[in-house]
Amino acid sequence: MRWKRILKWSALAIFLILFAWFQFAYWTSTNDCGHSIPAGAERMKAIRYCEYGPPDVLHLEEIEKPVPKDNEFLVRVHAASLNFVDAAVGGQLIGRLLFGLRKPEFTGFARDFAGVVEAVGKNVTEYKPGDEVFGVKSGAVAEYVCVRADRVASKPARVTFEQAAAIPWAGLTALQGLRTGKIHAGQKVLINGASGGVGTLALQIAKAFDTEVTAIVSTRNVEMARTLGADHVIDYTKEDFTKREERYDLLYDNVNNRSFAERRRLLKPGGICVLAGLGGAGSHPGQMGRMAATFVAPFRSRFIDQKFERYGTRFDRADLKFLGDLMAEAKVTPFVEKTYPFAETADALRYFEQGHARGKLVITIE
Ligand SMILES: NC(=O)c1ccc[n+]([C@@H]2O[C@H](COP(=O)([O-])OP(=O)(O)OC[C@H]3O[C@@H](n4cnc5c(N)ncnc54)[C@H](OP(=O)(O)O)[C@@H]3O)[C@@H](O)[C@H]2O)c1
Repeated sequence: MRWKRILKWSALAIFLILFAWFQFAYWTSTNDCGHSIPAGAERMKAIRYCEYGPPDVLHLEEIEKPVPKDNEFLVRVHAASLNFVDAAVGGQLIGRLLFGLRKPEFTGFARDFAGVVEAVGKNVTEYKPGDEVFGVKSGAVAEYVCVRADRVASKPARVTFEQAAAIPWAGLTALQGLRTGKIHAGQKVLINGASGGVGTLALQIAKAFDTEVTAIVSTRNVEMARTLGADHVIDYTKEDFTKREERYDLLYDNVNNRSFAERRRLLKPGGICVLAGLGGAGSHPGQMGRMAATFVAPFRSRFIDQKFERYGTRFDRADLKFLGDLMAEAKVTPFVEKTYPFAETADALRYFEQGHARGKLVITIE
């Protein structure tokens, strides 16, 4: 009886502490939107958002131009691109837990960019003004960003700034996912969702590893997948690819819209299904369920002879350079469906959120 009372009061106390912490964290969650630019500071234009909400919360504003620290350099951004993670603008629960409960703590938008080095800090030896680079920096949709040398790679001359800006995060996602699936020459690879930002790059990277690639896309993207190098293309609106007799070494799944049993059937013994898609493209009602399934499938696969693996994209400079080399060797050329002028960034996000972009969407900053 006494223990019951202690447990009851302890649970209540924990609940009250968590509630108080949440209230405190929520109401103290703020950002620098109210601050004015100091007199005499240089200014630049950038897209930023002060509140969570629909894409209309993105505004082109004047903010203070960043000044590089000793280990940083200043890049004049020419192009930036959108990724799944940038949809956090919407303020979904997971995004709020990561980026600020009530307001976004960091107000810059997007992270992939390509541009020209304009000035370098005194400890930077690797790059000099005039060098063309591409890389990752939060708040990339801006006239300038300050970055550390280890967050960029040299832009190959054969690709445009728009193409180079299209590759970093989606390219890292595709490359690291295929490596999670232990990709190697001679394998049969199936890519579910081969027409979006990650999918078009996964397709080309898988071909660069000398594999036989089958791409799952809808009718309007069949020709594009062939042009990008797919050996076989299946139109998911006309054929249920899970009913095929063919078996694969690696299933790179960007969509996660098929059951565990259906996907297991597609794999050879010892085959791997990489769960790349955290719910599939765009915002849709099934998203949370699919996301949850990516946690369950790897556990279930412990008891069978095929493996289901989930992973999170991480920044890795060697991988970024590897992607740069693939572009330089013409093994990968990012497919850009559409470029948007700086001031139309909200339109780009609106289109991206619908989940039907072909390849990447890029913002040009001129
Ligand atoms: N693991 C990680 O760390 C990580 C990191 C980044 C992204 N991701 C995930 O990767 C996935 C892809 O991201 P993304 O940026 O490439 O998305 P995206 O560019 O928005 O993907 C859009 C593409 O998906 C295709 N698609 C939509 N439904 C499909 C279906 N049922 N079957 C086949 N294709 C379909 C669309 O083609 P149609 O309109 O023609 O169908 C469109 O071309 C997302 O689920 C995202 O969560 C994971």
